[in-house]
Amino acid sequence: MTTPDLPYLNLREMEVAAAGVLSPAALAYYVGGANDEVTLRANRAGYAALHLRPRMLVDVSGIDLSTTVLGLPLAFPVGIAPCALHGLVHPEAEVATARAAATLGSLMTLSTLSHRSLEDVAQAAPDAWWFQLYLYRDREVSRALIQRAEAAGARALVLTVDAPYLGRREAIIRTPVHVAPGTVLPNVGPRTPGSEGTDDLSYFNTLLDPSLSWADLVWLRAQTTLPVILKGLLTAEDAALAAEHGCHVWVSNHGGRQLDTAVTALDALPEIVDAVAGHAEIYLDGGVTRGTDVLKALALGANAVFVARPALYGLALGGEAGVRHTLALLRDELRLAMALCGQTRIGDLGPELIFRS
Ligand code: FNR
Repeated sequence: MTTPDLPYLNLREMEVAAAGVLSPAALAYYVGGANDEVTLRANRAGYAALHLRPRMLVDVSGIDLSTTVLGLPLAFPVGIAPCALHGLVHPEAEVATARAAATLGSLMTLSTLSHRSLEDVAQAAPDAWWFQLYLYRDREVSRALIQRAEAAGARALVLTVDAPYLGRREAIIRTPVHVAPGTVLPNVGPRTPGSEGTDDLSYFNTLLDPSLSWADLVWLRAQTTLPVILKGLLTAEDAALAAEHGCHVWVSNHGGRQLDTAVTALDALPEIVDAVAGHAEIYLDGGVTRGTDVLKALALGANAVFVARPALYGLALGGEAGVRHTLALLRDELRLAMALCGQTRIGDLGPELIFRS
């Protein structure tokens, strides 16, 4: 069933193999979490601890994995979460990732902090990408970015709200990230004079606005006709506020990279579904490495699931083909998991699939 792009049988094997090819700085940046990495570990452990209640004697000879997100058809409910700096591991960077996602009928979310321009990504994946926004202190810069994203065909804006300051990622304090000398990141622009001593990530963070609050959403929504998704919500209270502001909800703890010991997206999902299902779409990320993980998140009410590190490992190992491999593994594992659970359609999945002790 699995596409034979690369020899790896699962995402764990890809992670191990990628660790062998990444530079020490890229490895520190990709793999690590904040502080003691409690949340990073919990993201994975949460899926393993949740058990399934499969149904038998159902005709599973045909499984339909297709779905839609905000009206966009997807071949299967897995997309790529925004992650910065794909160019640290592959010269085609975000363009290779976008092509892989588009080829398989998945969805790419392009980070503000990308090596390649959003216009390049738009060309690589016409009509199948979202733009992730970090709001700059300089609103005019943000406004220009939003307009470019809309003009280039982004299907939604994903505003990341869990990073007013960079989490304390000790691995990158020790081994800071530097883009290649002379590189100008297209959505960041040239360095301001005097900032030369700062590593690239810390510099980028100084451009962002830690005063961002719910009041700014009114401004943001006035700048665009695109749907807005708030990424990084972990409570029913914030999800309800998001829906009140006309936004959709991306449940995430930023891959354990921001507030350590924060709740996992999987644990936060039920209260968020209770609060806003039917009023807003709900997405989830963090620690997803198996088709059964995807199945559990969908059963608990997520409309779609996103992965970041697994896509980056695929990119590091095989460029576009590597990202395809990552997505195809998840797709094929999800199909098999559904069959073994007696489920044939994404829309039929529900919480009765999950065993509660
Ligand atoms: C991220 N993430 C992230 N999120 C965001 O909104 N904008 C960004 O630019 C980035 N950059 C980024 C870089 C790297 C190297 C990683 C690993 C992650 C967070 C990302 O979108 C997502 O929330 C989590 O990483 C999902 O968890 P998994 O799939 O990596 O376990």
